[in-house]
Amino acid sequence: MEKEQIQTLIREAEQAGKAAYAPYSDFMVGAALLAASGKVYTGCNIENSSYPAGICAERTAVSKAVSEGEKEYLAMAIVGRFRGKNAETYCYPCGICRQVLAEFCREEFLVISAKNEEEYQTMMLGELLPHAFLLDEQK
Ligand code: THU
Repeated sequence: MEKEQIQTLIREAEQAGKAAYAPYSDFMVGAALLAASGKVYTGCNIENSSYPAGICAERTAVSKAVSEGEKEYLAMAIVGRFRGKNAETYCYPCGICRQVLAEFCREEFLVISAKNEEEYQTMMLGELLPHAFLLDEQK
């Protein structure tokens, strides 16, 4: 992916994080998922009084995309920051989100974790979750 395209995706993730509902952790996460069609689906984390009922930004974005009929993805940018602060660390998807991404994405799927447009790290999903469990592969 070209740098400009990565930076656009980071901006969309930053913007998406502003909608995060995170009254318990104050950690606001935004994700921007680039689908094969070129459309970008964004998501934020949505926490809940019953903590395990919360959902991460990454899965919100995937849920939006799947529910709109799109299941092929190229890349995702993620920005995580504490409320009122700039992103100071690189936020990578949690284990559950890695597994959800593995359901739909190839190992080459690009994960971009960003502090801002200039400071970001890229990794492939296969590096984040090698040997993902896929039922198809059990057959
Ligand atoms: N969170 C995400 O949305 N994505 C991540 O990659 C890491 C964690 C959320 C879950 C919870 O709402 C908050 O960040 C603190 O864990």
